[in-house]
Amino acid sequence: MPLERPQTVINSGKPAGKISIRNLGKSFSLGETKVTALTNVNLEVDAGEFICIVGPSGCGKTTLLRILAELEAPTQGEVLISRDNPAVPLSSMIFQESSIFPWMTIRNNVAYGLKLRNVPQTEIDRTVDHFMKLAGLDGFADAYPHQLSGGMKQRASVARAFSNDPEILLMDEPFAALDEQNKALLQEELLRIWSETQKTVVFITHSIDEALVLSDRVLVMSGRPGTLKAEFKVDFPRPRRVYDLKADPTFGKLGRDIWMLLREEVTGQ
Ligand SMILES: Nc1ncnc2c1ncn2[C@@H]1O[C@H](COP(=O)(O)OP(=O)(O)O)[C@@H](O)[C@H]1O
Ligand SMILES: [Mg+2]
Repeated sequence: MPLERPQTVINSGKPAGKISIRNLGKSFSLGETKVTALTNVNLEVDAGEFICIVGPSGCGKTTLLRILAELEAPTQGEVLISRDNPAVPLSSMIFQESSIFPWMTIRNNVAYGLKLRNVPQTEIDRTVDHFMKLAGLDGFADAYPHQLSGGMKQRASVARAFSNDPEILLMDEPFAALDEQNKALLQEELLRIWSETQKTVVFITHSIDEALVLSDRVLVMSGRPGTLKAEFKVDFPRPRRVYDLKADPTFGKLGRDIWMLLREEVTGQ
């Protein structure tokens, strides 16, 4: 059977910002039944903005990200992504589980996308060195993934995604499996790399704290069928340090407001 071609991204349309999601809906057929994962999702994301989406399990977060990555086609509505540079990939995705290739060294993993695009070797070396350093992987270029901890493998995924130089970065609970200290370090490293590259980031998390530490704006999704229920501006100054921010009383208040909304969706009351 031929693969269904995704029709998510219409590059000719000019969205107001970097990403426009308009009236988006997605249903899946499961035998005789139809599962509506997403309904009536509307969202504008500015270029260089870092947004986090939180929502109960099964509300369609991954589905939304997969549509943005052109891995799924919407069944309703449209997604417009403004393309600034046709020579680079539209998006790179970072998953919860490490997706680096076990048979390649860390350096070759990080270089993978650039090699595919036949970027000159000197530029590959420069880019890879740069992002490996920023991601805290100095000295591990020639190691294989099995020689690294879970946190380091996710660092390699982050370095690979940024080396690829995509127009947008899509992150699906990338730090969920990490311990607290590694998570805090990686969050700070991600923010440092992001501030340098000014990429547009859509980051899914189930952690309200993580959303507040990272983002410019937190979007709260409803239970299935998922739709965007509320948004919260996150104005903490940057650069941010995770534990300084957590000590700020405004952080706690904002977290509580988001939790109150999310709680209704999780518990249904
Ligand atoms: N390929 C698929 N076929 C059928 N149902 C799917 C498929 N992908 C996701 N779903 C359903 O869509 C809903 C949303 O899933 P998902 O986007 O993974 O949620 P989340 O990431 O928020 O936990 C779930 O009910 C899930 O079972
Ligand atoms: Mg998911």
